[in-house]
Amino acid sequence: MPYFALRMHSLIIFASGKGSNARAIIDYFKANGKASVSLIVCNKPGAGVLDIAREENIPFLLVDKNSFNSDAFITQLQDHNPSLIVLAGFLWKLPDNVIHVFPDRIINIHPALLPSYGGKGMYGDHVHRAILAAKERESGITIHYVDEVYDNGRIVLQARCPVAAGDDVDTLAARIHWLEHFFYPRTIEFLLDHP
Ligand code: GRF
Repeated sequence: MPYFALRMHSLIIFASGKGSNARAIIDYFKANGKASVSLIVCNKPGAGVLDIAREENIPFLLVDKNSFNSDAFITQLQDHNPSLIVLAGFLWKLPDNVIHVFPDRIINIHPALLPSYGGKGMYGDHVHRAILAAKERESGITIHYVDEVYDNGRIVLQARCPVAAGDDVDTLAARIHWLEHFFYPRTIEFLLDHP
């Protein structure tokens, strides 16, 4: 029987929070076998995503401002030869040289329909609070390439959901997380299949 060596794609996840998106991506690709998460980059020592890394035996890199901006950091990323770098709740802006070394290979997820409710300071519950305060009737998610400007890169996918009359930050965040966990792994798979 002929043997075809199929390349297993490598993904690097950048996350600094709970890591529920990282968990969804890890589980999805464990089941379908097209990719594996070879490194998690985090800037918060106590972040939940690090527990996930430990549970899953995924190497992680804790960065501070100095190491994050160093050439050695770029080399560490290159060592994993990532097909995609996936930002999943990572709050620092990437250094321009990282963006230049991985053109069209860095994506981010934002918990609203960009270009609305994006930009510096617009993350997590701040976004949902602003949506509720403006009495928006719908919200959603945006998956986009990362360029040098916050929340600005080319959009890959958006998915919408209603904002319900009785929503508070928690119920809206839960609905948005559902969309994220469903669409982020599948969008990554789409991009791996259609480079
Ligand atoms: C997500 O809502 C994502 O849109 C935003 O940060 C949040 C991360 O959540 N960029 P988690 O750490 O994946 O649970």
